[in-house]
Amino acid sequence: MASLLTSSVLFAFLACYFMAASHAGNLYQDIDITWGDGRGKILNNGQLLTLSLDKASGSGFQSKNQYLYGKIDMQLKLVPGNSAGTVTTFYMKSPGTTWDEIDFEFLGNLSGDPYILHTNVFCQGNGNREQQFYLWFDPTADFHSYSILWNPQRIIFSVDGTPIREFKNMESIGVPFPKSQPMRIYSSLWNADDWATRGGLVKTDWTKAPFTASFRKYNANACLWNNGASSCSSSTNSSSSSWLSEELDSTSQARLKWVQKKYMIYNYCTDNKRFPQGLPPECKTS
Ligand SMILES: *[C@@H]1O[C@H](CO)[C@@H](O)[C@H](O)[C@H]1NC(C)=O
Ligand SMILES: *[C@@H]1O[C@H](CO)[C@@H](O)[C@H](O)[C@H]1NC(C)=O
Repeated sequence: MASLLTSSVLFAFLACYFMAASHAGNLYQDIDITWGDGRGKILNNGQLLTLSLDKASGSGFQSKNQYLYGKIDMQLKLVPGNSAGTVTTFYMKSPGTTWDEIDFEFLGNLSGDPYILHTNVFCQGNGNREQQFYLWFDPTADFHSYSILWNPQRIIFSVDGTPIREFKNMESIGVPFPKSQPMRIYSSLWNADDWATRGGLVKTDWTKAPFTASFRKYNANACLWNNGASSCSSSTNSSSSSWLSEELDSTSQARLKWVQKKYMIYNYCTDNKRFPQGLPPECKTS
């Protein structure tokens, strides 16, 4: 009886705890352009955002809100044509020297050669968890959606709703997991021709500048962080926050496997040369 009572109290508590804010709307409301001296622009009454890069500078933006867990989506259309040397980023990050970070980075290429989609997860300032992919479409021809799901059990990276990477919470075997530092969304377009394209062999062709990437449909289903408190601990409505316990069903797992088999070009978890003392513990479980 006592334990039945305890578990129903716990359940009620969790139901309260996991309420979240959902927000989709105007980019003026959600985003601040933070650098680039006019090279970043919000257009069409807040429905479109563009970042540009020329020889003098790139540009970038960040979310106004901070989040502690969330499902964040945005549609991106990457720099077309010869984008070699350019990098477009879309990521979440907390401040400080022991930060957490969840990254999408798009490494440009010569016309007709494939972009690389680079992903990484940092916890307390430590990354070294890179996975890289080619995409199954031309990411410069149209907008495609890129999503980060971050909940207490897992991080899932998705492209057009197809999961490409899952990083599970494996604190039980000693792998750190981001769970206490609120993060903002950041994005930038910058020059990285010392490493981005074929490892730095192909340089940016500045005669093609300015380079422009476009963004739209920012959507944050998230627990907002405000004055040291999470919006997810102060309401009784949990029906709108299924993402907080979302996991991959068998169909999604099959699609993840398909992407990893056909499109993954680098996985730190199989890089034995890099980890001569043995692969990181999270690599041994999957
Ligand atoms: C660019 O194209 C080359 C040749 O197809 C390929 O090896 C490379 O992975 C591509 N992407 C980047 C970012 O270098
Ligand atoms: C909870 O939120 C959902 C979605 O926002 C809404 O449709 C529903 O009416 C809310 N329920 C309560 C009890 O407030």
